[in-house]
Amino acid sequence: MSDNKKKLRIGLIGCGFMGRTHANGYNRVPNFFPELQYQPVLQAVCSRREEKVKAFANQWGVASYETDWRQLIARDDIDAVDICTPNHLHAEIAVAAAEAGKMVLTEKPLARNLEEAKSMVDAVSKAGVPNTVWYNYRRLPAVTLAKKIVASGKLGKIFHYRANFLQDWTINADLPQGGDAAWRMDVDVAGSGVTGDLLAHCIDTAMWLNGGITEVSAVTETFVKQRVHLDTGKLQEVGIDDACIFHCRFANGSLGLFESTRYARGHKALYTFEINGEHASIRWDLHDLNRLEYFDNAVDSDVKGWSSIHVTNGDHPYMEKWWVPGLGIGYEHSFVHQVADFLKSLETGEPCQPDFKNAYETQKVCEAVIESAKSRSWKGTEVEIG
Ligand SMILES: NC(=O)c1ccc[n+]([C@@H]2O[C@H](COP(=O)([O-])OP(=O)(O)OC[C@H]3O[C@@H](n4cnc5c(N)ncnc54)[C@H](O)[C@@H]3O)[C@@H](O)[C@H]2O)c1
Repeated sequence: MSDNKKKLRIGLIGCGFMGRTHANGYNRVPNFFPELQYQPVLQAVCSRREEKVKAFANQWGVASYETDWRQLIARDDIDAVDICTPNHLHAEIAVAAAEAGKMVLTEKPLARNLEEAKSMVDAVSKAGVPNTVWYNYRRLPAVTLAKKIVASGKLGKIFHYRANFLQDWTINADLPQGGDAAWRMDVDVAGSGVTGDLLAHCIDTAMWLNGGITEVSAVTETFVKQRVHLDTGKLQEVGIDDACIFHCRFANGSLGLFESTRYARGHKALYTFEINGEHASIRWDLHDLNRLEYFDNAVDSDVKGWSSIHVTNGDHPYMEKWWVPGLGIGYEHSFVHQVADFLKSLETGEPCQPDFKNAYETQKVCEAVIESAKSRSWKGTEVEIG
C-alpha cells in the first residue's frame, strides 16, 4: 500500500452478496486506478454472526470485525460506512452514521419508503457528509456510453424508453418468506417486491439517461398470496409485488414502458433497455453487457441496420483502466468503478451520483408506482429532475 495516499477507512455492514461485490471493489481499485489520491482500506466489517463475519474478514482482507453495527459506527478509525444490509436497516444505519460524522454509502433502494428516504437525505445534508447510492448499472461501460450518446443529441428528440428486469426465482409456491434467506419476500423488510428491488435500477438508469419521470400508471400482482414466514413458521400473507408493469411520461415528452417480474420462467436477471429517438435508437442487454446496439437512420440505406458496438476500446468509458481493446469486463467491474468514482468525488468535492438526493427522486417514482397500482389510477411523481 502506498504511503503517500490518503487512507479512506471503510466500515462495511453486511457481508452477503453485496458485501462481496463491494469488498472486491475496494480491493481492486488501487491496482486499476493508481492515480487516485485516496486509497480505500477495509478497516472493519459487521454482520451479526461472529463465525460468518470472521470468515468474511479473513477471506476479503478486512482488518477487523464487529457483530453490532452500532459498535462499528462508534469507532474512531472508520471514515466511511458502507451499508450492504437488507433494506429495512438502510435508514436507521445511514442516519446514525451521518450523525456520527461518517461518509455514507448505501445499497439500493435508498430505503423502504419515501419517509425513510427523506430522513436519510436530511441526515447527510445536515451532517454535510459525502454520500452515494450503489445504482451500479450506470457504471457499466456500455451504459455509460449510452449516456454519452444520448447527451450528445445523436438520438434527436426521444419518443420512447422501454425497460425490463426479469427473473424467475420465486415461482415455487413452497419458497418461504422472511428470515435471512428470503428477506426480499417479506414486505416489512424489503418495503416492496420487484418495484424496489429491480425496477428501482431501471428507474435510476432511465432518469439518468432520459430525464425525470413525471407521472405513472402501474399494475402489480402477487401471484402467490401466502407463504410460510421463516421467523414465525406460520403461513402468512405475502405483501410484496411479485410483478409490476407500469407506463409513464417523462418530462421531455417521451413515453416509458417498464416491466419487472420474478415469474418470467427462463430469465435469471435479464435487464434490458431501449431508447427510440427521431434520428437513432440504442438498446442494451445485461446478458451481453459489453455491447451497445445502435441504429442510425442517417446511414446509407444499403448498409443501414442495427450495429453492435463492442464497448471495449480504450476511448470507451472506463475501458482504458482495464486490458486491451477487444477484451470484455464483467458485472463486478461496475462496483470497482463506483468505488473509484466515489474516491474521485472526494478529490473534486463534487457529489458522487447518484447521491442520496438523487436516489430520493427514484424513490419517489417507486412510491408513485406502488400507489398507482393500489389505487388503479395515474399518479404524479413530483420528481425534481428536468
Ligand atoms: N446494486 C445491486 O445490483 C444490488 C444487488 C443485490 C442486492 N442489492 C441490495 O443490497 C442490499 C443487500 O442485499 P444482498 O443481496 O447483499 O443481501 P444478503 O442477504 O446477501 O446480505 C445481507 C447481509 O446483511 C447482514 N445483516 C442483516 N441484518 C444485519 C444486522 N442487523 N446487522 C449487521 N448485518 C446484518 C446479513 O447477515 C448479510 O450478511 C439490499 O439493500 C439489496 O437491495 C443491490
